[in-house]
Amino acid sequence: MKTSSIFQILLILLLGSSALKAEDGHRLWFRYDLIAEPEILNHYRESITGLMVEGNSPSLKIAEDELSKGFKGLLGIDIPEVTSVGKGNIIVAGTPLNSPFIASMNLNEKLKKVNQEGYIIINTTYRKNKVILIAANTDIGVLYGSFHLLRLLQMHQNLSGIEIVSSPKINLRMLNHWDNLDGTVERGYAGSSLWDWTSLPDSISPRYIEYARANASIGINGTALTNVNANALILTKEYLAKVAVLADIFRPYGIKVYLTARFSAPVEIGNLKTADPLDPEVISWWNQKGDEIYTYVPDFGGFLVKANSEGQPGPQNYGRSHADGANMLADAVAPHKGIVMWRAFVYSNDVPDDRTKQAYSEFVPLDGKFRENVILQVKNGPLDFQPREPFHPVFGAMPETPLMMEFQITQEYLGFSTHLVYLAPLYEEVLKSDTYAKGKGSLVAKVIDGTLENHKISAIAGVANTGNTRNWTGHPFAQSNWYAFGRLAWDPYLGSAEIASEWIRMTFTNNIEIKEKISGIMLASREIAVNYMTPVGLHHIMSEGLHYGPGPWVDNTRHDWTSIYYHRADSEGIGFNRSSTGSNATGQYFPEVGGIFDRIESCPENLLLWFHHVPWDYQLSSGRDVWEELCFRYNAGVDSVRWIQNEWSEVQSSVDKERFEKVKSILEKQEENAMVWRDACLLYFQTFSNRPIPEIYEKPLHTLEYYKALKYTF
Ligand code: GCU
Repeated sequence: MKTSSIFQILLILLLGSSALKAEDGHRLWFRYDLIAEPEILNHYRESITGLMVEGNSPSLKIAEDELSKGFKGLLGIDIPEVTSVGKGNIIVAGTPLNSPFIASMNLNEKLKKVNQEGYIIINTTYRKNKVILIAANTDIGVLYGSFHLLRLLQMHQNLSGIEIVSSPKINLRMLNHWDNLDGTVERGYAGSSLWDWTSLPDSISPRYIEYARANASIGINGTALTNVNANALILTKEYLAKVAVLADIFRPYGIKVYLTARFSAPVEIGNLKTADPLDPEVISWWNQKGDEIYTYVPDFGGFLVKANSEGQPGPQNYGRSHADGANMLADAVAPHKGIVMWRAFVYSNDVPDDRTKQAYSEFVPLDGKFRENVILQVKNGPLDFQPREPFHPVFGAMPETPLMMEFQITQEYLGFSTHLVYLAPLYEEVLKSDTYAKGKGSLVAKVIDGTLENHKISAIAGVANTGNTRNWTGHPFAQSNWYAFGRLAWDPYLGSAEIASEWIRMTFTNNIEIKEKISGIMLASREIAVNYMTPVGLHHIMSEGLHYGPGPWVDNTRHDWTSIYYHRADSEGIGFNRSSTGSNATGQYFPEVGGIFDRIESCPENLLLWFHHVPWDYQLSSGRDVWEELCFRYNAGVDSVRWIQNEWSEVQSSVDKERFEKVKSILEKQEENAMVWRDACLLYFQTFSNRPIPEIYEKPLHTLEYYKALKYTF
């Protein structure tokens, strides 16, 4: 054999094997690798012999390409695109409007069951041939249905007899990017911003398309491109031209663009002397700005606004209310069907009251005072994305105002992209919390999907964890949080386990044993992080500013940014008394739930120190007292990270080397971090409890002074 042909063979082998192993995570949950199990492969090869997508809108073209690509990868053969049904088993995708074939199939009754973004997937026959129909009322519905079908294949599901009817339960399913115009990302741990503002509008990164595709696959239909701590420049012509390019790319994927509006923009970029929302010049400036934006982005979604919070300007600077501010902006976009998402994350600079009570006090009196196109964006809990918080008391308390949920996908308080924490259980816990607003069963999910009060708009937002790093999210498992957010936005009643199972099958493996192992890790991971960070209802005891490692001693900044404000440890006990004998935050909940929180005996133990100042020797249901419980939980947290490491080591032979090693090495860091959390917190709280750490536990590795001196960087 000639050297050159040996070289060629080697090259082919090398490329072949590296292609198989190119598992840097960039492909997310669309790996579309050839199905290895012969039975399953044969089933699909028999069920799918042709593809017909009638109609030629950009969205349908995307659906067609995606289906072709998916079939080719998974089935290992080209599935021909056909123009008629009659031979073989054809997949037909379309709407009655675009596809004469779909129109001929009498699907009207079925399609009435789904909304404008929903779809049906059914297996039926046409002139003795089997066909699988992906039918919808709109092209976007067809695209969503196509992704669903591909998901079924990726999960090795049997296609015989499928009958799927699916519609999103929430209208607006948004990502919020806290991305700055200089490319940095506030609380972002996966590289720089995806938006390359410098090279836009002329140069288009392929990442924009990949991003849109990933979102469409999970039904996300809105993206707020810029940081809530807003920069007015985004509203200038120069930037709007850049925004328009992104909007054009995202449109066929069903994604609308939203921007954050800096309240003082009329002063900063409009040369006005005031931004008073009742000033006629200001009103007219925003109206013109609204009109102008729509000349660039005809389907612009609207504004997301953080006002009078953490130093951001707002209507209160001019003695006006949040409703005055929101309504003025709402009027500017209303002629174009835009909306305003006004954030309820506000608290006073003067700290007059328990911080967790302030949003409720501020907004509940404004119920019914907002325009129809305003929706109030409320964080899941009343503080700030802690590892565990009770649900926000505003949910259910403003029946006349549509309320939307804001979850954090990026792990600001949950170990950045270093800790493996699957967040669906956190989301699920909040969505399934009962507000009792209209009696038992008034779940938070029903408040935000609009069904509790029959609101026309409903929305949910997740603060994105994406960046320009190759695998999108830093930690390979952080991808699951993006995925889970999208799935819960589509259907807030789904369960974490089901979502984890989908994600694992598509991202790692369909091997049931391995899937169960990985799922076990994921489902336990949030509680594990709570244990080694903030057990028994502790909160906001992270290091200052960065919020990464422990900092229960933090005391040198404004009072409600310190840890001691939140844990209130003293020689008697620990915890924040928010009961009726304390700040009475419990009084902001409906009595059925507020009453439970209010009494120390009935308060859920996982929120005990959130709502109560509890004596160190108070007995818990475990038989341990509070000090012993803290010792137990912090240690259990560390032990459980070791358990994760062990479980992960057992999947080695079934996971590609690249991702296996990456996760393994980050888990080592997580274990180290968990130990620091445990030792630092126990040593610190011990200075108040004056009790020993029981002998059965590992001794802290260093002194309290050592932990206090640690500096965290990212
Ligand atoms: C947190 C976070 C800030 C962010 C703020 C917000 O406080 O640390 O970076 O700006 O939330 O949601 O507005």
